[in-house]
Amino acid sequence: MPTANSKSNTTPTLASTGIYAHVVGWGMAVPENVMTNDDLSAFIDTTDEWIRARTGIRERHIASERESTATLGLKAAQQALDVADILPIELDLVIVATSTPENIFPSTASLIQDQLGASKAGAFDLSAACSGFVYGVQMGAQAIRSGSVQTVLIIGAETMSRVMNWNDRGTCILFGDGAGAVVLRASQEEGGVLSAVLRSDGSGGDLLGIPTVGSLDVLSSKAGLENGHSMSKMYMNGGEVFKFATRVIGDSIMQAVAQAGITLSDIRLIIPHQANERIIQAAARHLKIDSALFMMNVERYGNTSAASIPIALAEAVKEGRIKEGDHIAFVGFGGGLTWASMVIKWGVPTPGETAILKKQRREFSYLLARWRAALRRISRRISEAFHIFRPVQGRLARLRRKVDNSPLV
Ligand code: COA
Repeated sequence: MPTANSKSNTTPTLASTGIYAHVVGWGMAVPENVMTNDDLSAFIDTTDEWIRARTGIRERHIASERESTATLGLKAAQQALDVADILPIELDLVIVATSTPENIFPSTASLIQDQLGASKAGAFDLSAACSGFVYGVQMGAQAIRSGSVQTVLIIGAETMSRVMNWNDRGTCILFGDGAGAVVLRASQEEGGVLSAVLRSDGSGGDLLGIPTVGSLDVLSSKAGLENGHSMSKMYMNGGEVFKFATRVIGDSIMQAVAQAGITLSDIRLIIPHQANERIIQAAARHLKIDSALFMMNVERYGNTSAASIPIALAEAVKEGRIKEGDHIAFVGFGGGLTWASMVIKWGVPTPGETAILKKQRREFSYLLARWRAALRRISRRISEAFHIFRPVQGRLARLRRKVDNSPLV
């Protein structure tokens, strides 16, 4: 069975460049449609009492037919840009952590980059299951600290309802849909992302996953069929995942805290991946701290995978649980198996022009992005059509040359 790597990672993550990566924007979005435990018990053999007692979940949000990982991610991103009061054109990089992308490619990050009008940004999706958001923030922070970029948008977005086996009461009761986002920005002021511990144990890949078409086509693969897994539907060994999660959370938080050069008592709030209230309570017991130090909102959203930490972050800020200068920690865990912890020193004032001026310019950017994408598609079609006519044009040109060079002319 996987174990948390107890060896402390002493690699300093603060760059010698003197550049720090600060969280300057945050946002969240969930579908309107709410599915309660009673709604679930109408079509599977379960009860509200069982689900609440074993998981703490009361309800989750489920995407409508018109919603997707990209539409939810876009909304969360727009909120985060509003808080940071920056323009899409200022973004250098867009990272989307997700296990439910729109496609294998184009990436969901590219779709969102286009819809924002972030025309100077690179974009890619990141696959580290429920740990993906913490991985993404660390990738963004490292890029900023290296001096190669200034501003990074990191989104955790999921439509888990699309990969549920709705006949499996052991998994479908747990998950929900949603998205959260943060903007990271370079600053000379000390703080921001102080440390990160990213870990993986691929030997536990059989405990939790979503088979899909890839280099190993599970449709024809004997291994995929033998395991009884279904294409594009999640499988999970709940008991083993529970044990893994309770083991790694405490250890990895302690490693991230040590790496940041502080102690656990300096941490004002821990924002864990929202999988199950009992997992979080077990982690609090392991760390010998009050479970009130953990942000919890699993009751209202269920497990939204890579989206759960940024959603909980946005709510924690709204509830006034994070103040400038506070040390906070993120901890994620999930498929891979993967897990990740991070310590952040919160806050520099958001720079920039007046919020009203930039809000109008942001909205104009979104509008322009739609037109630009449509115009680019049309212009590609036109140039494609010219390519079709090019051989005809070539033959006409050769004919004209022949006529021009003819001794009869
Ligand atoms: N409603 C009612 N009964 C259910 C049920 C449901 N939704 N799901 C399972 N049961 C039943 C089981 O069939 C079993 O019945 P039995 O004793 O007659 O065989 C009984 O409840 C106990 O099942 P068990 O799987 O041992 O329950 P549990 O206490 O381990 O809880 C989970 C199951 C899935 C809630 C729990 O294991 C869990 O949360 N694991 C972690 C999952 C997770 O967080 N995954 C994502 C990580 S990113």
